[in-house]
Amino acid sequence: MSDDHRVLLLGPPGAGKGTQGDRIADRYDLDVITTGDALRNNKEMDISELGLEYDTPGAYMDAGELVPDAVVNEIVVTALADADGFVLDGYPRNLDQAEYLSEQTELDYVVFLDVPEAELVDRLTGRRVCDDCGATFHVDFDPPAEQGVCDDCGGELVQREDDTEETVRERLRVYAEETEPVVEHYRELGSLVEVSGEGTPDDVFDRFVDVIEN
Ligand code: AP5
Repeated sequence: MSDDHRVLLLGPPGAGKGTQGDRIADRYDLDVITTGDALRNNKEMDISELGLEYDTPGAYMDAGELVPDAVVNEIVVTALADADGFVLDGYPRNLDQAEYLSEQTELDYVVFLDVPEAELVDRLTGRRVCDDCGATFHVDFDPPAEQGVCDDCGGELVQREDDTEETVRERLRVYAEETEPVVEHYRELGSLVEVSGEGTPDDVFDRFVDVIEN
């Protein structure tokens, strides 16, 4: 793989898309495009002119629902215009977004990270993120040296507002309803590469590299 390749990472919430996306980008010198982070940086944006259920992206996110396509498509098209090679994580999340993406760019690899649901809940409810630099830890699977303190920058580690058990269950329900058909769509196209997301992050990354390079 080279630095102009276009990689799409699919998988349920907590499958490790963010964790693996960063590693893939480092290894192959790609940009990371993640709609979740972009939306978190714009949680309070006023989208009331759309006349939909909520007036900000953050209200959808905290409820575990998808942010409206009009908002997300705009973010993605801007990010794609700035990137040569990329790892795209968190998009597309429904079939309309998949169709929109196919009009914007071609993909070289579509990788699905597969993890059983029970493990997803443990991974997400135990996740802690640095309030300053965004580094991700897990209270059991990847704990920081000092509880509540970021190893990288000393910032405070917090729980994401959508990582409570109730919201995680709703995110998983929305994933099954809206995003599993997207996975099936790429499977039917014959372009889906499936990688088990179980084991340590190093194990998963080794599997990913093996699949891509062989
Ligand atoms: P987003 O931020 O994209 O959330 P997500 O897809 O639910 O994915 P996560 O970031 O929660 O999980 P991940 O797979 O990246 O896992 P991670 O590597 O962090 O979206 C959030 C919200 O934004 C959505 O609910 C929606 O409202 C909105 N949104 C975003 N995109 C949208 C779109 N296209 N359309 C509409 N709305 C959109 O790992 C999780 C944890 O597990 C970490 O603690 C990590 O340390 C740990 N971990 C990782 N790998 C392993 C491993 N191998 N073993 C053990 N632990 C591990």
